[in-house]
Amino acid sequence: MKSLVSYYSRTNITKKLAESIAGKVNADIEEIIPKVNYQGKLGYARGGKHAIQEKIVDLEDLKYDPKDYDIVYLGAPVWASKAATPLISYIKHNEGKFSNVKFFSTAGSGGFESTFEQMEKYANVKPKATLALTTKEVKKDLFEDKMTDFINKE
Ligand SMILES: Cc1cc2nc3c(=O)[nH]c(=O)nc-3n(C[C@H](O)[C@H](O)[C@H](O)COP(=O)(O)O)c2cc1C
Repeated sequence: MKSLVSYYSRTNITKKLAESIAGKVNADIEEIIPKVNYQGKLGYARGGKHAIQEKIVDLEDLKYDPKDYDIVYLGAPVWASKAATPLISYIKHNEGKFSNVKFFSTAGSGGFESTFEQMEKYANVKPKATLALTTKEVKKDLFEDKMTDFINKE
């Protein structure tokens, strides 16, 4: 099965998960890079504001086309109980190209349900599986079992 992992990560937590998934399912991996700066304190505030507004931002050029894949894994951190703006922008820029998806997300504590609902709304398809992990779980490598379930779910 030809697989693509597309993710956004601001502080490398979701990135760690994305790389782990890609390694396990032998996927191509696309890091989504926004043209807006979300780094630092100012970037944090901007990110929160944009997430609430569901702002669609420009992205740096992408390497892969999601329509060339049998399954696309979409991942982002939770921002203000939504998916981080760059991932929503990625989905929007690739509208109509998703038919088989799985979602993954990381957060300090929660907001996963509304995040996955928003991703589903934009992608216009129900995910085959979702994986929600706290920052702490990812940092401490406490995700082996949940990861196996996530990958094996059809
Ligand atoms: C703008 C912004 C808003 C956030 N909002 C939430 C939130 O609503 N709930 C939560 O549990 N964590 C929230 N977080 C924390 C991140 O989801 C968490 O640190 C995540 O693991 C970071 O992943 P990353 O390193 O891939 O960017 C927020 C972080 C940022 C930057």
